[in-house]
Amino acid sequence: MIFRTTLCAAAALLAAAATFPKGAVGNESGCVSSFDPSTDYFPDKAQVKYGAGFDISYNGNAKYITNKVSGENYVLYQCGTPIPNGVQPTPANSLQVGNWTKVAAVPGTKIVLSSAPASAIIEALGLQDAVAASYKFLSVTSPCMQKLLDSLPRIEQTYATPSNRRRGIGSASRKNTLVRRVSYDLGNQGLQWTFTTYGMSDPRSFAVNPEDATDMLGKAEWIKFVAAFFNKEAEANKLFADIESRYNSLKKSDSVKKTVGIARYNKAANGTILGWTTVPAQPWLAQGLSDAGYNTHTKDMISYTNIDDFNKAVSGWDVLIDTSMEPLPHGGAKVPEWQDLTNGYKLGSTGAKSLSFLAQNAIYRSDLISSTQNATDADEHLQVQPDVLLDDLIKVASAASGAKDAHWYRNLPLQMSIDWTSPAECTN
Ligand SMILES: *[C@@H]1O[C@H](CO)[C@@H](O)[C@H](O)[C@H]1NC(C)=O
Ligand SMILES: *[C@@H]1O[C@H](CO)[C@@H](O)[C@H](O)[C@H]1NC(C)=O
Ligand SMILES: *[C@@H]1O[C@H](CO)[C@@H](O)[C@H](O)[C@H]1NC(C)=O
Ligand SMILES: *[C@@H]1O[C@H](CO)[C@@H](O)[C@H](O)[C@H]1NC(C)=O
Repeated sequence: MIFRTTLCAAAALLAAAATFPKGAVGNESGCVSSFDPSTDYFPDKAQVKYGAGFDISYNGNAKYITNKVSGENYVLYQCGTPIPNGVQPTPANSLQVGNWTKVAAVPGTKIVLSSAPASAIIEALGLQDAVAASYKFLSVTSPCMQKLLDSLPRIEQTYATPSNRRRGIGSASRKNTLVRRVSYDLGNQGLQWTFTTYGMSDPRSFAVNPEDATDMLGKAEWIKFVAAFFNKEAEANKLFADIESRYNSLKKSDSVKKTVGIARYNKAANGTILGWTTVPAQPWLAQGLSDAGYNTHTKDMISYTNIDDFNKAVSGWDVLIDTSMEPLPHGGAKVPEWQDLTNGYKLGSTGAKSLSFLAQNAIYRSDLISSTQNATDADEHLQVQPDVLLDDLIKVASAASGAKDAHWYRNLPLQMSIDWTSPAECTN
């Protein structure tokens, strides 16, 4: 017993030296044992510089985050200190639609993952030890994260009535969708909160939304967001600065005079092709393509039921980014292969002969790294590594007859095979 206490005390002293400002003492969980209202508990601060979709500010023992994507307010306070005066968490049974105020003591030490980009960020910050469980349907591509999550409990969601509306400033379809009130069942094992993908009527869930950033570097700023839940702002600022500097040194100032567009074929589960849709690039991708030197086809979403009309619409494209999915007969979908695209876009027909992207072998999908559970790394690491993404877009733009050296973009005409990841590939 005495030995154990001594060890704890030593660990606490070490933690205090490493993490806490002068005068504050931390225990094993990173909690301070006495509160001094005049202390700045977070000397390392994060700041948002780009169109990330969240804001963060600091005051004494608390961090105030507004997630503009999920429409929520998060108050994080130093564990061992009181919740700041005037902060009222939205009660768990509230029927309020959006604008929830959610409160948590930080740093996180036993958190739950239900967000692929949060998983990528936690890995980048070396915070794997703080992950204690994951949502049962979360799939990730990182082999070591797959291995870690396989060794931890999987948790369920619980549903309640009445229904509530999802709220966000994202696409119109995400906004005001009627969804059932849903929360994560954190049980009684001391799990603290869940990182999720959208705002929920769950006081212990925090949404991580790099996919809704409006610019490329804003995506990487979500590293700072996640880091704030672990008091790892200093590490996040360093990671971000490196990404920012690599991004800016890769950025092209001259145009490659190529046009890129995004499209998909729409297929019914019985195999019938229902039509074709040209899809506008999300703002961050439009910026990334522009920084790679492209002209981007940025028209509204337009659907075609006649292949000749579709071919006419895409006739000026040098590069096609495909977002089709192959429906499976009994529900769900899988990623298409070259044969599927050939059928889906009728690429063997005479009308396709004049398509520039076909002549240049320039049809890509961002699913080169995928897990056998059908997670793709486009939802995970791509979301927070805009420097690597820009490098990919430049490789794709500069290839004369199809690029095979991108990190995430799979060349379909050259029949590149998917890198299917599994936990067995984790070697540490
Ligand atoms: C650390 O301190 C907090 C707040 O004072 C307390 O709730 C927690 O149980 C402590 N944890 C450990 C491991 O001592
Ligand atoms: C959100 O809630 C805060 C208080 O928690 C309030 O001051 C603010 O006006 C609300 N905003 C909206 C858009 O409802
Ligand atoms: C296949 O499904 C589509 C859409 O559900 C439907 O319009 C079409 O008639 C079906 N075709 C056949 C051959 O069953
Ligand atoms: C994943 O995709 C494969 C085909 O690529 C499919 O057979 C399988 O059912 C899918 N798995 C899941 C979990 O959806």
